[in-house]
Amino acid sequence: MKASNIPTDTHDISRIGVIGVGTMGQGIAQVAAQAGLQVVLFDSCSDASPKAAQAIARNWESLVAKGKLLAEARDRCMVNLQCASSLAELAQCDLVVEAIVEDISAKQSLFLQLEDLLRPDAILATNTSSLSVTAVASVCKRPERVVGWHFFNPVPLMRIAEVVRGELTDNAVAQQLMALTVALGHKPVLALDMPGFIVNHAGRAYIPEGLRLLSEGIADHDQIDRVMRDVAGFRMGPFELLDLIGIDVGQKVMESLYHQYYEEPRFKITPLVARKVAAGLLGRKSGEGFYRYVQGKTIHPEEPALTPLKRMPVSLWISPHEPDLAQRVQKHVATSSIDGLILETGPLPTNQALIVVTPVGEDTSTTCVAQGLDPQRTVAIDALFPFEKRCALMASPVLLPDYRAAASILFTSTGSAVTWLRDSPGFIAQRIVAQIVSIGADMAQHRIATPGDIDLAVTLALGYPQGPFGMAQTLGVNRVLQISEALYHAYGDTRYRPSIWLRRRAQLGLPLSTLD
Ligand code: NAI
Repeated sequence: MKASNIPTDTHDISRIGVIGVGTMGQGIAQVAAQAGLQVVLFDSCSDASPKAAQAIARNWESLVAKGKLLAEARDRCMVNLQCASSLAELAQCDLVVEAIVEDISAKQSLFLQLEDLLRPDAILATNTSSLSVTAVASVCKRPERVVGWHFFNPVPLMRIAEVVRGELTDNAVAQQLMALTVALGHKPVLALDMPGFIVNHAGRAYIPEGLRLLSEGIADHDQIDRVMRDVAGFRMGPFELLDLIGIDVGQKVMESLYHQYYEEPRFKITPLVARKVAAGLLGRKSGEGFYRYVQGKTIHPEEPALTPLKRMPVSLWISPHEPDLAQRVQKHVATSSIDGLILETGPLPTNQALIVVTPVGEDTSTTCVAQGLDPQRTVAIDALFPFEKRCALMASPVLLPDYRAAASILFTSTGSAVTWLRDSPGFIAQRIVAQIVSIGADMAQHRIATPGDIDLAVTLALGYPQGPFGMAQTLGVNRVLQISEALYHAYGDTRYRPSIWLRRRAQLGLPLSTLD
């Protein structure tokens, strides 16, 4: 039986071998057999293949029980699945995908054996997540037929695969694998063979920038996570995510990518990660990382309670410097339940007013100086993101306690939670999102993948609410450039240099996804 959508002009793929039938091999075998391919399982551990076949069969049973798979379809899938007791039994395969141990010599030695066994035009695919496809292929006589095929765990649910073109991979082979990926019911994205491919490269901003904010003392880990969930719409904050991955595992990946890109400053992390690892605080698996876990449950620090006020003690003045953002704040405070809120409309605040500013990329102190405002009475709100669930507020070091209390009362009276940060160029969300966009834009500039494929990979594999190009569209390409420029100016650190791809498109008023 042939899978649909597979091109037949260059090479037919109807029989595939899956070598290494652990977590990933099982998943790949399951979706391939479901798509109608004949699948041959092989593993160096002799009883692994039959066990994997049983596990896959159980998955199909449960799909039938849930009404997601017909019993006849399940029977056809079962027929498609075979176990091999020797590598030689894979000789007739049109494609072999390896999901063995992540070790370059093991993968190279396997491909060398397969080259002698398979037809010269059979495809050799590697599911490696961190090795260079080119380096794996370097021992092969025909490296043009070696390609990366990177799935995500769990394969049946994560409907995305990166097709990775090594330096010598034949384009037709990559295209064929793209078509096959579609036939398996997955979205294919095409990546150059660069460290991290698409997903692990595009994901370099989220945790590292969270760590940078934490190490600068701008907010604690729990506050950063709350803001990224409630304000920026992410499912998990960077610290929940790092605890889930394992801080030791995360550290290795982050350091490896940083070095593989020759000390790219955007990817730099802070020594506080190594300190956690040294203390044995590895995240969920060790019972404590950034959070503590009790019987599998995350212990979140409580948010400080606020004493509700009925009346606002002072009037309110919102800086019109960013008119659209000022208008958003005005609309939001109009929903306040406080009696007698007086909104000043003059060009300057009166001597007693609580001053609210809406900086983009700048901190409160810089904003106050630039606009000639009194920093003792000025509070900044991140108005670039929705604040219905939570308002991210910050202030300069001299904000008076009464004004801080008044701002807390005002914004909580709208029904939103409030997170106070220490003064930060770009708050939390602006800063992390600007870094996500910059890295995505750099990837497009370096032709690692197209903007469309980057966004698809980031949303499907990382579960971000949008990909970098979509985020830039939502916030405004100009606005993201404004954040990057302000960050770069504030820190003088090339970590925050604006991406040339971003700058060009902002200058010309184009969507960030515009190709050259
Ligand atoms: P796993 O440890 O669950 O399974 C590996 C299997 O390969 C085992 O059954 C082992 O007996 C077998 N094996 C090891 N060396 C072998 C050899 N020389 N010949 C035949 N079989 C051999 O590993 P997992 O997690 O499935 O990872 C496999 C590959 O997929 C690795 O390259 C990994 O980097 C990659 N990957 C893993 C992901 C994950 O989330 N686990 C995600 C994406 C890629």
